[in-house]
Amino acid sequence: MQSAVGVITTKRDGGELSEAQIDWVVDAFTRGEVADEQMSALAMAILLRGMTRRETARWTAAMIASGQRMDFTDLPRPTVDKHSTGGVGDKITLPLAPLVAACGAAVPQLSGRGLGHTGGTLDKLEAIPGWQADLSVPRMREILADPRVGAVVCAAGADLAPADKRLYALRDVTGTVESIPLIASSIMSKKIAEGTGALVLDVKVGRGAFMKEFDDARELAAAMVELGTDAGVRTVALLTAMDTPLGRTAGNALEVAESVEVLAGGGPADIVELTVALAREMVAQAGITDIDPADALADGRAMDHWRAMIAAQGGDPDAPLPRAKHTEIVKAPDTGTLTRLDALDIGLAAWRLGAGRARQGDPVQAGAGIEMHAKPGDSVTAGQPLLTLHTDTPETIPAALEGLRDAFSIGSAAEFTPTPLLLDRLAH
Ligand code: URA
Repeated sequence: MQSAVGVITTKRDGGELSEAQIDWVVDAFTRGEVADEQMSALAMAILLRGMTRRETARWTAAMIASGQRMDFTDLPRPTVDKHSTGGVGDKITLPLAPLVAACGAAVPQLSGRGLGHTGGTLDKLEAIPGWQADLSVPRMREILADPRVGAVVCAAGADLAPADKRLYALRDVTGTVESIPLIASSIMSKKIAEGTGALVLDVKVGRGAFMKEFDDARELAAAMVELGTDAGVRTVALLTAMDTPLGRTAGNALEVAESVEVLAGGGPADIVELTVALAREMVAQAGITDIDPADALADGRAMDHWRAMIAAQGGDPDAPLPRAKHTEIVKAPDTGTLTRLDALDIGLAAWRLGAGRARQGDPVQAGAGIEMHAKPGDSVTAGQPLLTLHTDTPETIPAALEGLRDAFSIGSAAEFTPTPLLLDRLAH
């Protein structure tokens, strides 16, 4: 006979939880039999004591079993998805999903809304007039099977790893988010339950990321690759830099517009580099060897799939995107080279302007955000626009400006050291 106190004290005292204890506690918590305060105590014990690989795998399996595991093995195309741990200006899913679909894979992406300074993919796509995040499973299957579309980005239903939803809400308010086994099992339970055959993880490292240190990010990536592999999902992780925002925009509609530029063959070099790098990993994981995603991006096939993907979810790919009512320009104070542009400061300022939410369920402004007119390494002239702030709520501008005071540095070209975007790759 299991008891919550027994499970908590086993972990508190540094013991390894048995499979029966893990299965019971996750299931009993989902049913409401284990109280929130007991699960919070267990989460703290796990944060302090850690979990072994065996425990983490079982914990993940128990969270998957708390809901429904989707199955797309009957689709005529191999399935592959990407998950990013979240960064500022990270709109990569937008060009990536249609690009990989254009290469012949099916991309079933169940995604979330943003909380805090890293935006959510659904918030970005919801800036497109008409676009709907909620899809039934039969409709999702229909879109994935359609060779003209092949990609869906939609909201995860309530039945996808419900134990994780409840646990994440507790971790958020009890200082227990930062446990690598809990983060890894949280992310991977949702990705495995979504039914993808293969997965590419983009684990961000740096100031604007969840993981600030390379070693922590590598440990998280390794734990997730192990979990995916053990669950029969071919999993690869790239570690990528998140000290500077990705691209030149942070904010929902602004990021959609930038993604469309990339699909049209232009766009910022870092977005193109990361999109193509992730797409190559994804098509390889899907077993597709006869097509280079760089070609499908260059020749417009990815754009065709984008337009079909947006239309399949009710969106109008030709509709003008919402624009914020107010703008404010930050000018370069000096002439020289932009040596630093801080991802966290930009992300927080975009959030303050209305691009993100403070609490789950809050609305976001489609047009709010920040445009960056220069990136580190670029020459700038005193008085030129460096940033444009966009918002519908002009009363947020002073706080955003205050938060941007130390967001950038201008110096000599010699003071600028270019840093690579792709830092490491982990596979099983
Ligand atoms: N994202 C998740 O989905 N879960 C975590 O625990 C952390 C980030």
